[in-house]
Amino acid sequence: MADFSILALGGDGIGPEVLAAALDVTEVASGLAGIRLDIAEDLLHGAAWEAHGTFCREETVTAARAADAVLVGAVGGPEWDDIRVPGGPEMQDGLMRLRKALDAYAGLRPARAWPELGRFTPFRAGLAERADIMVLREMTGGVMFASPRGQERRAGRRYGFDTAAYDEDEIARIAHAGFRLARTRKGRLVSADKANVMESYKLWRAVVTEVAAEYPDVTLTHMYADNCAFQMMRTPLAFDVVMGCNLIGDFLSDLAAVVSGSLGLLPSACLCGSPGGRVKGIYEPVHGSAPDIAGQGIANPAGTILSVAMMFEHSLALPAVARRIEAAVERALVSGHLTPDLGGTATTRGFADAVIAELRA
Ligand code: NAI
Ligand code: MG
Repeated sequence: MADFSILALGGDGIGPEVLAAALDVTEVASGLAGIRLDIAEDLLHGAAWEAHGTFCREETVTAARAADAVLVGAVGGPEWDDIRVPGGPEMQDGLMRLRKALDAYAGLRPARAWPELGRFTPFRAGLAERADIMVLREMTGGVMFASPRGQERRAGRRYGFDTAAYDEDEIARIAHAGFRLARTRKGRLVSADKANVMESYKLWRAVVTEVAAEYPDVTLTHMYADNCAFQMMRTPLAFDVVMGCNLIGDFLSDLAAVVSGSLGLLPSACLCGSPGGRVKGIYEPVHGSAPDIAGQGIANPAGTILSVAMMFEHSLALPAVARRIEAAVERALVSGHLTPDLGGTATTRGFADAVIAELRA
């Protein structure tokens, strides 16, 4: 009888390659921790479209609901990004459907600087070397989901429109997640909004301020998102947790990623509840399916392996295992096991083997 069940969805391009490497690390890490995992695999997005004519089968959603955590490689590719089959799938039918179905609203996107990799960032020495920023992005609401939305003709011209909207419960639950996360880190939370110009953000700021009363140990700062972007690049070390709506969180997480040096290093989690204890989640690297290097065995699996660490922390409630994996990745990088995106010659397999050797050391 397994202790936890995991659903693994490789997806497309380099997705299955980085996921296979990360699953090997998962197996060794769980073995060392003395726990047993039941890992089931399924297809998502392009791979699911080719096999089943859909980006995400109902069976996959059911399996994801039943699992303790879902691991994803990466999805997409030119063959499917512009699919125009009548009645065919849209981007929203794959990974976004899974996130929505599981109500995975809390997007954790940590970006940390690796001092040894500073030459891959645009920062001058000393400015960002120990930066460690956690962007918390609301994932299931806001302008990307609210209605009305659409395109029509108005006064003889084409007209496209979306709605920026949140209700107070949606704001309160992401705010609680932000305060709880800050508590486990340096105790500082920045909430980024545009409350100076938009009603939904006035409500956002008001609700975040109300929730703050329950977390007197966390320092809350409200910032306008544009200023927040500027300050994050000016003084990255000043930031701990940065929280924003779906759209602002999307921009700020890519911006924060600059401190780390390569897209291939960045993990993410989409939690279906507030961090703390055991909460189901979907874990995936931040990068896409990288069709330009797919099939060559040279993709950097670090982002996926670090996503596995996040899974151990949040969905399996084994933070000690998470720290062990992170330390092993760090030692593998520091000792020069670098894939070509970091100027080295290590293969996907070779990097995973180095991490496994460090885990066992
Ligand atoms: P991408 O992240 O796939 O690639 C951007 C660049 O970074 C490429 O040069 C790629 O070779 C490199 N790269 C990415 N991950 C890497 C890794 N692990 N190791 C080494 N190099 C890496 O973004 P792009 O090219 O814009 O999109 C490609 C496809 O991925 C598209 O179909 C897009 O829709 C999809 N996509 C999927 C995402 C997801 O699964 N969450 C996120 C972003 C894009
Ligand atoms: Mg993005």
